[in-house]
Amino acid sequence: MEKTLILLKPDAIQRRLLGKIIARFEEKGFQIVGMKMMLIPESMARKHYASHEGKDFFEPLVRYTTSSPVVVIVVKGKNAIEIVRKMMGATFGSKAEAGTIRGDYAVSNRFNLIHGSDSPSSAEKEITTFFTKEELLDYQPIDFSWVYDISEGDVV
Ligand code: RTP
Ligand code: MG
Repeated sequence: MEKTLILLKPDAIQRRLLGKIIARFEEKGFQIVGMKMMLIPESMARKHYASHEGKDFFEPLVRYTTSSPVVVIVVKGKNAIEIVRKMMGATFGSKAEAGTIRGDYAVSNRFNLIHGSDSPSSAEKEITTFFTKEELLDYQPIDFSWVYDISEGDVV
């Protein structure tokens, strides 16, 4: 089981798309184990997107990320990191495939509604940046044995 960090960016809240986007992850079968709303401090945004420092879109990206509240979510599931990235679609709203979150709801190449961790190491880093241990909840999802086939011991 993998955990990954999802940020519903300021445009997702301002455009009243939270429910629709969160529903996609619930319906897919992921378990939500952490969720909160916050205004990201500038220093946190710079740290979160540090790999883009120096690029021409870095400063506008920091402004965008800190311009209005976001919703931060941790979801859990088998191969969650890769599957969430697939559900998000390509970075640019204008290029993202129909059927993905960005493909269905975004046209902008910057205001693209959602962030998802892109590797196990960034997921781990990002989850600890945004959540304390106590804020991540461990509970048994009652539909687990219908979301996955666990009849032979493995999670399939
Ligand atoms: P994210 O990190 O937010 O999940 O997005 P991503 O992996 O799909 O894309 P990435 O290359 O990491 O870019 C981070 C965010 O920066 C904004 N961006 N603006 N040319 C531009 O103006 C430009 N390019 C990227 C987007 O908000 C992108 O999600
Ligand atoms: Mg990225």
